[in-house]
Amino acid sequence: MTNKATMIVDKHFVISEVDKRIFGSFIEHLGRAVYGGIYEPNHPTADESGFRQDVLALVRELQVPIVRYPGGNFVSGYDWLDGVGPKEERKKRLELAWRVVEPNLVGTNEFADWAKAAGSEVMMAVNLGTQGIDDARHWLEYCNHPSGTYWSDLRIKHGYREPHRIKTWCLGNEMDGPWQIGHKSAHDYGVLARETAKAMKWVDPSIELVVCGSSNSQMATFPEWEATVLEHTYKEADYISLHTYYSNRENNTPNFLARSLDMDAFIGTVIATCDYIKAKTRSKKTMNLSFDEWNVWYHSHDADKQLDPWQIAPPQLEDIYTHEDALLVGCMLISLLKRADRVKMACLAQLVNVIAPIMTANGGPAWKQTIFYPFLHASLYGRGKALQPIVQSPKYDSKDFSDVPYVESIAVYLEEENEVTVFAVNRHLEDGLLLELDLRSFGAFRVLEHLVLEHDDVKARNTEAQPDNVKPHAGGQSERNETGLTVKLPKASWNVVRLKLES
Ligand code: AHR
Repeated sequence: MTNKATMIVDKHFVISEVDKRIFGSFIEHLGRAVYGGIYEPNHPTADESGFRQDVLALVRELQVPIVRYPGGNFVSGYDWLDGVGPKEERKKRLELAWRVVEPNLVGTNEFADWAKAAGSEVMMAVNLGTQGIDDARHWLEYCNHPSGTYWSDLRIKHGYREPHRIKTWCLGNEMDGPWQIGHKSAHDYGVLARETAKAMKWVDPSIELVVCGSSNSQMATFPEWEATVLEHTYKEADYISLHTYYSNRENNTPNFLARSLDMDAFIGTVIATCDYIKAKTRSKKTMNLSFDEWNVWYHSHDADKQLDPWQIAPPQLEDIYTHEDALLVGCMLISLLKRADRVKMACLAQLVNVIAPIMTANGGPAWKQTIFYPFLHASLYGRGKALQPIVQSPKYDSKDFSDVPYVESIAVYLEEENEVTVFAVNRHLEDGLLLELDLRSFGAFRVLEHLVLEHDDVKARNTEAQPDNVKPHAGGQSERNETGLTVKLPKASWNVVRLKLES
């Protein structure tokens, strides 16, 4: 292990307090996320409401603070009224976004119950594809108004006396995408989003609203879309969304692992665009970012093309993740932490079965995919002050990226607990690396644990038959030196080094 990298971890170089909502996730009415995922009334672990307790336990383990719902592309054709009231009266609908049949057995109230049991807030998305201002304000009134109006009393009639108090609402989904039902130009969307936002905030001024940014940074309309939408909505919006999914279809792992550099650039451009509109509109408000869809997604593309349409809950988007996917997810989590000053919410898309950290078999077990682990560690130990990562690392060039650092790293300082956690990925596929941490600003400390996720085969996966093929161990090696700690980063590994400060 001759390659070396250095990192200065200084408690004074604070990026920002991490908003815990960056460890959010997403449940869409898509594939087996809801039916066969969180909800399966005939499953041996189901409670009286039909929710799988084995899945709920895994979600709770991840400590997901906020879950986006009900879509995604699904929401752009969704009538929320189909999902409330007596279940036996609910209509089955053709669901055009994913070409399935939606039975509507889970809707607003059931999902709010599930989220409460999971310890999560709901981030609700309204339909600005086929619907508009009225449906959005009525749904909000149904969810959040205490009582004494038609929509709030309807909720009470449906068995929910207390309002759900849903604070965060997305104004549509990926409205820049031609695949979206009711796709719009930036101007048309911006006007509709602004008018919907006004009405929604008049119903409940305590809510926060997310306007749609681009579906990814490769869209031809990026970043003009953001600029136009924000020109219309800067006053009313609280966040702008970002979405991105990465793939290794070309089977070029060094290039794949560098894709978080694209995420860094994407975030940077959106921040610059927000600040440009802030200046242009002479606003005092700083717009924050909601990275409300991010993950690796490509393994299931071919299988999805073979599925017959108009089934209920077919196995769509069931990516089985590899060790290298977990490494990129680790890098992407570090990218989010690096911009904790502006990224205040983020959703790993998605949570169960559909491009998800948790997989289930219908009637069978639930297990952890490889990507479960970096997300778990970041969610558990990444809450505190994100510290500016001053890293010197050897670099490489790949097909699409130059100067890719082998080491991607960040530290988070949990002052109340006297703890510092260093997250680090070694992108090198053949060699381990020594990471020399300068920890002088912290004084004396001891190593609580050094968790490592590593595997000889970067294509290794967890399956129902082998659910523990890829999982972390606590045998990482770190040695004290004069100024801090030398941490061994095995080749192709995700590392979590937890330190306890002595004073
Ligand atoms: O998460 C899967 C899909 O990806 C979502 O429905 C959509 O918003 C995005 O294109």
